[in-house]
Amino acid sequence: MEIIEMNENNKIEYISEIARLKKKKNAIILAHYYQTGEIQDIADFTGDSLALSQKASSNDADIIVFAGVRFMAETAKILSPGKKVLLPDMDAGCSLADSCKAEDFIKFIEDNPGRTIITYVNTNTDIKVLSDIVCTSSNAVQIIESLPESEKIIFAPDRNLGNYVVNKTGRDIAVWNGSCHVHEEFSLEAILKLKEENPEAKIIVHPECVLPVRMIADFIGSTSALLQFTKNDNSKSYIVATEPGIIHQMKKANPFKSYIPAPPKDSTCGCSECSFMKLITIEKIYMCLRDEKPEILIDHDVLLKARKPIKRMMEISEKLGL
Ligand code: 13P
Ligand code: SF4
Repeated sequence: MEIIEMNENNKIEYISEIARLKKKKNAIILAHYYQTGEIQDIADFTGDSLALSQKASSNDADIIVFAGVRFMAETAKILSPGKKVLLPDMDAGCSLADSCKAEDFIKFIEDNPGRTIITYVNTNTDIKVLSDIVCTSSNAVQIIESLPESEKIIFAPDRNLGNYVVNKTGRDIAVWNGSCHVHEEFSLEAILKLKEENPEAKIIVHPECVLPVRMIADFIGSTSALLQFTKNDNSKSYIVATEPGIIHQMKKANPFKSYIPAPPKDSTCGCSECSFMKLITIEKIYMCLRDEKPEILIDHDVLLKARKPIKRMMEISEKLGL
């Protein structure tokens, strides 16, 4: 094995080693919009959960290094079982995925029989195995609307996105009571104060935010929809209520606009950043590409079962042109 000694400060060397190793090993880096700007900039592809799943199943790399959280890397492995999928830090979990444990979810399904089970991609693999269709925040509404109106639904795990799709679709949906600690942390009062100070700024919000924050939004959407909105819209400034990593792409697309991160309730913590996403670093990407670990491994039968609802999502999304 190559041994290359590098210290914390020489990021440029890490970055050039990453480029060399990627080429040598036919590897690609997929990065979510919540990664740091420097990671997004070295990635071969940056996107939201839906786009990253689509990319994971349509590339000819031998190795995928996933700069994101574990459920995203697991989704990539499920869609590309023949590839080696690496996650630079196995502790990069998700508080939302962890708010839905399989034993509790089985009980919820038993208590709400006869419903189609739609789960947000932010779940652990054992929940996907129990699902009929997976969705992301980019396609949740459209996937539900593609089903017959009479179909009763279970939606898990995010109660805010669930509530949002209930309001949008008017369907009969039993919603699991889970949430994301980052999106629930935004302060309505602080956002309203910012709006007072910046009356021209539009408030743009991820659907994982709580209802009072969604109610004051000028626009609600997934990370890629928020990015697209800032590209197409003619305002000069935005208050952004989602993980601030996305602002990197917004600035790249329109450097002369201003993007104000929505503040969390506790102004002394950096809790509007996803601490799980931010566990991934350039150094860890380099080491994982060098050592080809930590690797995502999923039992073959489990993988096949979890694949079905994800494939259904991709088929519906493709049909709808999403
Ligand atoms: P997107 O579906 O917008 O990528 O969001 C993923 C996520 O983890 C939101 O917290
Ligand atoms: Fe999970 Fe929330 Fe982080 Fe998204 S922002 S990965 S939902 S903890």
